[in-house]
Amino acid sequence: MTGSTGAKRVGILTAGGDSPGLNAAIRGFGKTAIGHYGMELIGFRDGISGLVENRSVNLDAGALSGILTVGGTILGTSRDKVHRMHVDGEVRDMVPQVVENYAKEGLDALIMLGGGGTAKNAMRLVDAGLNVLHLPKTIDNDIARTDTTFGFATATEIATDAIDRVHSTAHSHHRIILTEIMGHRAGWLTLAAGIAGGADIILIPEIPYTVASIAETIRARTARGSSFSVVAVAEGARDTEDTADYEAARLLAKSAKTPEAARAAKAHLAHVEDQQREHTFTLARELEQATGLETRVTILGYVQRGGTPCAADRLLATRLGAAAADLVARGEFGVMVAARGEGTEAVPLSEVAGKVKLVPPDHEWIAAARQVGTGLGD
Ligand code: F6P
Repeated sequence: MTGSTGAKRVGILTAGGDSPGLNAAIRGFGKTAIGHYGMELIGFRDGISGLVENRSVNLDAGALSGILTVGGTILGTSRDKVHRMHVDGEVRDMVPQVVENYAKEGLDALIMLGGGGTAKNAMRLVDAGLNVLHLPKTIDNDIARTDTTFGFATATEIATDAIDRVHSTAHSHHRIILTEIMGHRAGWLTLAAGIAGGADIILIPEIPYTVASIAETIRARTARGSSFSVVAVAEGARDTEDTADYEAARLLAKSAKTPEAARAAKAHLAHVEDQQREHTFTLARELEQATGLETRVTILGYVQRGGTPCAADRLLATRLGAAAADLVARGEFGVMVAARGEGTEAVPLSEVAGKVKLVPPDHEWIAAARQVGTGLGD
């Protein structure tokens, strides 16, 4: 499919949770595509929903100016799944609609900036015959086959700053402070910020904890004269029992053979997740009881996704955006533009979609945390 004017015509969208660096990536791609290659660029509003409803905006050089440092996304975003969209009260596969809109707009390529869900959407559009590129964005850093993702470095700075700041209250009041950090089911963000912020204990989903182990670390600190502790807790971290319950429910949902069984398994998984939702507060109560130290919780939440991207994310997003424009110019599609060392690499989307990058138990960061005496709750 080729644009009618001769110049390549490209669409771009941002999908999934917003993340620092999205605008830097739009700018990096756009400036290279327009300024260097003479392409035309349009942006679809609000992720997949704008693509399905063909809500777009023209992105010229002026629209790309002044956005490098701006948080969020100038295009808006949503978490839709293209093959399961709620339309007129029913769930519908909107891939054919996207294929129609792509042709109607005379597009030669579609650039999709997002995380794991976006990689799966991108794969579906590749399978439908569209020329798609994916750029890895997420504060969670959980995308397979890329060294890192843009948004992660900024979120790490924010979470590290928060850990730094809670130290003074923990120290002054002789308290335990649990700082809950995002990351979905991956521990990258908590581990990075926990190490950088000097948390005394770091709890991540990949290493199920026991309250007894955490309490022992805290008591040993008290015995050494440090009557306070700062604990970095990933939102997905669970004790050994909850981890087993969750994994069993997840396995059941994955292996269900009939639609009825799938519905029941999904409802059970949702119930388990719901029961575990307040896990950081539960842990706080348990630690207070076990150690006798006053315990408080700070949930960082969306603060971690907000505001201006740090320099590392601006650099990464610009590099990936520019590399994506090179791929469009060369006619290479169906790939994610990955960060690899100091360069970039085009990785087939089939190696990315549906995969999650978790922290391996033997990862160097885990070894380093243990070596400096940080408790990991196991
Ligand atoms: O993927 C980014 C992320 O912030 C996760 O860390 C978190 O679990 C999730 O998004 C929150 O999603 P939502 O924005 O839908 O509340």
